[in-house]
Amino acid sequence: MLQLHHHLLTTLLTLLTPTTALTIPQINGPTFLSLYANQPIKNLTGIITAKGPNGLWLRAPATHSPKTKTSTSSSGIYVFDGDGTFGSNFSVGNAIVLGGVVKEYRSSADYLFLTEITVPVLERRVEGSEEVKPRVIGRDTLAPPTKWYSGLDGGDVFGVPGNVSLVSVVKPELEPRKYGLDFWESLSGELVTVKGGTAVTKPNRYGDTWVVGDWKVTGRNARGGLTMRDGDANPEAIVIGSPLDGSKNPADTKMGDRLEDITGVVSYAFGFYRILPTTAITVVKSREPVLPPPTKIVSSGKCDGITFGDYNVENLSPTSDHYDGLAEHIVEYMKSPDLVFIQEVQDDNGPTNDAVVSANFTLSTLTAAISAAGGPNYAFTDVVPVDDQDGGQPGGNIRVAYLYKPSLIRLYKPNPGGPLDENEVLAGPTLKYNPGRIAPANPAWTASRKPLVAQWEVIGGKNKKADVFFTVNVHFGSKGGSSSLHGDARPPVNGGVDDRLEQSRLTANFIREILSKDKKARVIAAGDFNEFTFVQPLIEYADISGLKDLDEVVKIDEVERYTYLFDMNAQQLDHMLVSPALAKKSKAAYEHIHVNTWPAYDAQVSDHDPSVARLDVCA
Ligand SMILES: *[C@@H]1O[C@H](CO)[C@@H](O)[C@H](O)[C@H]1NC(C)=O
Ligand SMILES: *[C@@H]1O[C@H](CO)[C@@H](O)[C@H](O)[C@H]1NC(C)=O
Ligand SMILES: *[C@@H]1O[C@H](CO)[C@@H](O)[C@H](O)[C@H]1NC(C)=O
Ligand SMILES: *[C@@H]1O[C@H](CO)[C@@H](O)[C@H](O)[C@H]1NC(C)=O
Repeated sequence: MLQLHHHLLTTLLTLLTPTTALTIPQINGPTFLSLYANQPIKNLTGIITAKGPNGLWLRAPATHSPKTKTSTSSSGIYVFDGDGTFGSNFSVGNAIVLGGVVKEYRSSADYLFLTEITVPVLERRVEGSEEVKPRVIGRDTLAPPTKWYSGLDGGDVFGVPGNVSLVSVVKPELEPRKYGLDFWESLSGELVTVKGGTAVTKPNRYGDTWVVGDWKVTGRNARGGLTMRDGDANPEAIVIGSPLDGSKNPADTKMGDRLEDITGVVSYAFGFYRILPTTAITVVKSREPVLPPPTKIVSSGKCDGITFGDYNVENLSPTSDHYDGLAEHIVEYMKSPDLVFIQEVQDDNGPTNDAVVSANFTLSTLTAAISAAGGPNYAFTDVVPVDDQDGGQPGGNIRVAYLYKPSLIRLYKPNPGGPLDENEVLAGPTLKYNPGRIAPANPAWTASRKPLVAQWEVIGGKNKKADVFFTVNVHFGSKGGSSSLHGDARPPVNGGVDDRLEQSRLTANFIREILSKDKKARVIAAGDFNEFTFVQPLIEYADISGLKDLDEVVKIDEVERYTYLFDMNAQQLDHMLVSPALAKKSKAAYEHIHVNTWPAYDAQVSDHDPSVARLDVCA
């Protein structure tokens, strides 16, 4: 109550007379939001550290606020005038005294606010000029925290549900030693340098590039990117936005590229803290070769070494221009697996929105490209969806499908189901529909792909029963609608997580039924789960189904578990899980092949990396 009165009184006073003799750190204060928001100020002294197209940046003179490594209140601030004319008579290094109005600005209600001074009025110029030294991150400042984003995340940035609280409502005190958002906020408006930078993903179409400097990081993979891990989404990375001098960041930067030192101002826009560099970033050295080596995982041609590929082929339609690239990946890099789980196959006229649902032409175009590239003559199978019911690009009717070598593998007692036929596990176990979809009418699959279950036999195997195995090909609902890792909602909203949880449970329960009829059943579940192993849908999937994560079985180094790049993270959306009968480290091999995450954006064939496994299905 007392505090409230005090605050009201201050507000009333400052409405009458502009606050005098404030310092920049006082305006920024120790939280995310300024106590002076919407208030006029006068007599503010700052040294110009940078100029941009819509304003300039100031730093408090050293006499106002000796900035220490650990100060929580930033001594830098943005002065927004809309067109940059306010600063046109001054240079970097000049000191000015100005008035204006403090604003908290954000362009979307889901973002954090940027503290700035608007409608600036020049009071006077301070004579002379001083050299402006950027603060080197990790030396003149703390190093960025490497695990937690916010104290409001409850210890897990992937916690479900998200949006339990909002930074802008709770207004936590900044703890820049512990939390990434607090760290970057404590430098908001400051001129900084990133020394020894490395690009950790590839830039977006505006050239915005996520980097880390020479500070301590966690999750670094062998290529130089940062891999997301349980509870750790890498707050130590920062995005480098549009250069202040109008130059353009390169669009072909790659994960692991070494960069020249970057100097710029810390800002917040489009949902992320960012550094706006004074000029475009420069790549010093790229990792070579651009592509990884082909897999060494090859088929034995018998049931003791069947190879399984998994590849999201990104909206493959008959008019796609990436057939040759996909064929090269499958033949050269994946060594033509015996059976390939494919996701995102569109119908025979792609995004044309009509009643066509068959993908025979799309799939036969793919298998022809593979043969032409020197690969096997694959056969394929899928189940057509009901028109417009499975989400994805409108009209595309994406679905999952299998490619397989018909000389080695065939469907076991085939009996293909239709789009609405609900598959069942029969005694044996066998499938009612082979192949067939899991619970296609369940509302969990609204606007999403239904999993395709199939039972297969290895041709010419000795032991009929032992050579039979099941596959489950999934493409769970997307993460669309997620909020930013640097956003207001804590923990961040994981878009579509409730759907994925239900989809996981349905699929896992189906697999559990197979294993309850035969605990030695050989089951391989793979695909684009659109989720990470340490988040609730996949935790439950493994628990309910009894399957083992193949990354764990063969002990792939945690930081090498990635198939996709998003924001600052190398991350794994594509997984393969196997039943206990197949989960023997000595008899299994598995690899993610980074043919798409490593090359530059223009050179990638799909947005996902493929994976290849070898399993002994007759063990
Ligand atoms: C302006 O601020 C300075 C400190 O930066 C202070 O010494 C001076 O008295 C202030 N002037 C006015 C008119 O408030
Ligand atoms: C820049 O200086 C000139 C000359 O003193 C003045 O006329 C002009 O208004 C100044 N511009 C700004 C934006 O303050
Ligand atoms: C978070 O919840 C608030 C209500 O507390 C709502 O206004 C806001 O839109 C939500 N944010 C997101 C990203 O869902
Ligand atoms: C697609 O091919 C399958 C056999 O692979 C066949 O049964 C089906 O009729 C074909 N669909 C169309 C629309 O041609």
